[in-house]
Amino acid sequence: MVASGEATPAPDAGSRARSAGEAAFGPDWKPAWRASAPGRIELLGNHLDYNGGPVLAAAIDRSVVVLADGGGEPGAVEAVFADTDRSREEVNAAELGDWRNHGAPSGPADYLRGVIAEAGARGNALRSPARLALAGDVPLGFGLSSSAAVCVAMVLAAVERPPGGADLVRIAQGAEHRAGAPVGGMDQSASVAGGVVLFDGETLGVERLEPDLGQYVFAVVDSGVKRSVGASAYPTRVREARQALDLAREILGEDVPNAASLRRQHLEALEAAAQRDSRLRRELLKRLRHIVTETARVEEGVGAIRAGDWAAFGHLMTASGRSSAMDYEISHPKVEELVGETLAVDGVLGARMMGGGGGGTALSLLERSAVERLDATLRGGYYRRYEMADRPDLIQVCRFAPGAVLESLA
Ligand code: GLA
Repeated sequence: MVASGEATPAPDAGSRARSAGEAAFGPDWKPAWRASAPGRIELLGNHLDYNGGPVLAAAIDRSVVVLADGGGEPGAVEAVFADTDRSREEVNAAELGDWRNHGAPSGPADYLRGVIAEAGARGNALRSPARLALAGDVPLGFGLSSSAAVCVAMVLAAVERPPGGADLVRIAQGAEHRAGAPVGGMDQSASVAGGVVLFDGETLGVERLEPDLGQYVFAVVDSGVKRSVGASAYPTRVREARQALDLAREILGEDVPNAASLRRQHLEALEAAAQRDSRLRRELLKRLRHIVTETARVEEGVGAIRAGDWAAFGHLMTASGRSSAMDYEISHPKVEELVGETLAVDGVLGARMMGGGGGGTALSLLERSAVERLDATLRGGYYRRYEMADRPDLIQVCRFAPGAVLESLA
């Protein structure tokens, strides 16, 4: 029996948030709003969002819930985080001003500061005053975009008239930037839109897809290596990609809107130019190669989804993971080991590292009936080697889920 399979009911984040709120703010704390935002899985399109490229992503059935009342001190937002140390944070919007973190985000309080500062900078009035309680079923450091879900849900809960669509995405993404994680907009967009989306990193637009998975499921497989975007090689890759784009523009002398608009012939021209121009370092060419080949894989992946060709989609996922590991050099050796062992299991169509990199989970596409086999294989292999075999929830089947919502509880 897979401890973490679909049969396990998700723990109720709403009631955990409520009890943390009552403990922190007293029995007269009566939440008037409930915001929730799902985590996401990234199906294909690794590190393409901030390069202006396409990403296939899906909102999943794990979410962050924020309850909000209207009974605190004027001008202040107070928050309690049920799933961390239940510490209480108070943020005064006027004192916070144009806050920016120096370094990587240290916890959910930094995202709260980011949300308040970013909402203010974009001219959004806050619900005033507000006391928030937050809890989530999106595991932290797992690579399911808990931080994006936290930011989207906090914007919905704390902003007086929260926008939807790309405007909501921009506040949540800006909040993460302020907190110290220079992320693209894919996580937030998937969380806001819900379902399976083809995201466009250039416009932040989303196109909905309605895939029929048939007997297949997507499952995330825990590597046991905790990570966070801000503290990983992610910011370095963002800088390298920008540098590579600037050089490509200069050397090709063409209008290159973003790195993901480059095609194979451009890559070849740049590889030839690198013989003469030492600024085009080997690693910059590798980053560009990943961006170019990954963009092509997403384009093919859309066709495979539309045709219901999951075997082809699985191959693309596996190729994506190799490219992320070898060319973008953003995976983690243990994640690659886990991917290798996952791919060897009968019924697995594809597996890859997912998200920011440096650890977290691998994403696999497999027959529903192969989930238990995968669990048994890994518990006798990778999980035994790394002394994790007694832990629950190592493999989590993810269902597609609706996007973020704000409900009135009044
Ligand atoms: C993290 C970031 C996203 C995206 C992925 C990699 O999840 O938050 O913006 O860049 O990594 O594709």
